[in-house]
Amino acid sequence: MATTLCHILCQSTPMPTPTILLQPTETHHSLTIAPPPVGISLRGRIQIPGDKSISHRALMLGAIAQGETQIQGLLLGEDPRSTADCFRAMGATISELNTDRVTVQGIGLGNLQEPKDVLNTGNSGTTTRLMLGLLASQAGCFFTVTGDASIRSRPMNRVIQPLQQMGAQIWHRAGGLAPLAVQGQALKPIHYHSPIASAQVKSCILLAGLLTEGKTTVTEPSLSRDHSERMLRAFGANITVDPETCSASVTGGALLHGQSVIVPGDISSAAFWLVAGAIVPGSDLVIENVGINPTRTGILEALAAMGADITLENQRDAAGEPVADLHVRHSPLKACTIAGDLIPRLIDEIPILAVAATVAEGTTLIQDAAELRVKESDRLAVMATQLNQMGAKVCERPDGLEIMGGTPLIGAEVDSFTDHRIAMSLAIAALIATGPTTIHRAEAAAVSYPGFIETLKENCQV
Ligand code: S3P
Repeated sequence: MATTLCHILCQSTPMPTPTILLQPTETHHSLTIAPPPVGISLRGRIQIPGDKSISHRALMLGAIAQGETQIQGLLLGEDPRSTADCFRAMGATISELNTDRVTVQGIGLGNLQEPKDVLNTGNSGTTTRLMLGLLASQAGCFFTVTGDASIRSRPMNRVIQPLQQMGAQIWHRAGGLAPLAVQGQALKPIHYHSPIASAQVKSCILLAGLLTEGKTTVTEPSLSRDHSERMLRAFGANITVDPETCSASVTGGALLHGQSVIVPGDISSAAFWLVAGAIVPGSDLVIENVGINPTRTGILEALAAMGADITLENQRDAAGEPVADLHVRHSPLKACTIAGDLIPRLIDEIPILAVAATVAEGTTLIQDAAELRVKESDRLAVMATQLNQMGAKVCERPDGLEIMGGTPLIGAEVDSFTDHRIAMSLAIAALIATGPTTIHRAEAAAVSYPGFIETLKENCQV
């Protein structure tokens, strides 16, 4: 009898389902998310794609090492594809990209070949800036480099100037913009005091130092991600680090040897689920195999300060990088201040932290984050305007955001401005909004997170 009644009820009152729909328009894709009035929760175990920073470095170091590099867990996003294509054009043999195993036949340090065409770095700042260090120090070859509209508007002076101090010959558009041209040649070592904490700047100079006789050092104002230092050491480079002074040095001339690299899940991609799990009532998510390198875990510290319920389970080491499963459950959040040395350790997570701050009790301050203005979009301006469009109270500051929490979000039409992290942050904001939200140019998510929308659908429950 009970079974029959349940059967009838289930048939006559179907559970409302959330709408999560990606639709093509003439120029782009729009993602519409409409949680049903009863609300949704996120539950399940999530596998996230490989770390973007480590994927780029594994492809690049594999290409310039001697012998074979095997990469497990590579990110299949558009950015690493740009890196692979550039290094194929300069002589490296890189197998078809997949997550199981990518094989790179390295050409050996100093053996990059002059490409027959322009190197196109797409949307990828990491490809553009890191690769420039290798091109500038590759004697006898001429290179031209360009990328998409975003790359052609992002500052390259931050790497051009130190490379020029090393003696590099680089031509660029006014203001240090791409397209760029490089005449590779032998460089001289420098000690560069970077005015910004940037792993792209640091890595560019260290890569240029690989072929430079003597010791090349970079000192930064606070420590940025150290994946280059770790991987360069594993490949056999002569590298030293001094975390006290935020310095890293490379002495040129050591040969690099192909390695087996295991790419952990990207904490910057996990961040969307950490915040979603924390802010969507009733949520309980485990995000598996996340890289927890201490230079990247600022997001965990910021969310802990906001009162999020996140535990680290099954901590282990994967080929030189620490890894854990992250368990997040919904809990009330309170405002906090995110500033100073923490900023480089969560630089890519600020858009999604801004979403968390809209539900937190009190006013969250994000300071010392002017770097966000020169990412794939001006992330301070875009997050402020797009969240305000959804009813949030966000004030833009020259170097950050002030977010008045506890303001309910309302579904609206918003835009990613072709920035992958904005697209995904707004999708998570839509989960707690009343009514439908449409995110234009949502296809940008594929730059770092192909499969984001599918994972959202799989773990959304009414
Ligand atoms: C990256 C460094 C960071 C980060 C980017 C990836 C890297 O940029 O924002 O997504 O892989 O080195 P900056 O070095 O410009 O801060």
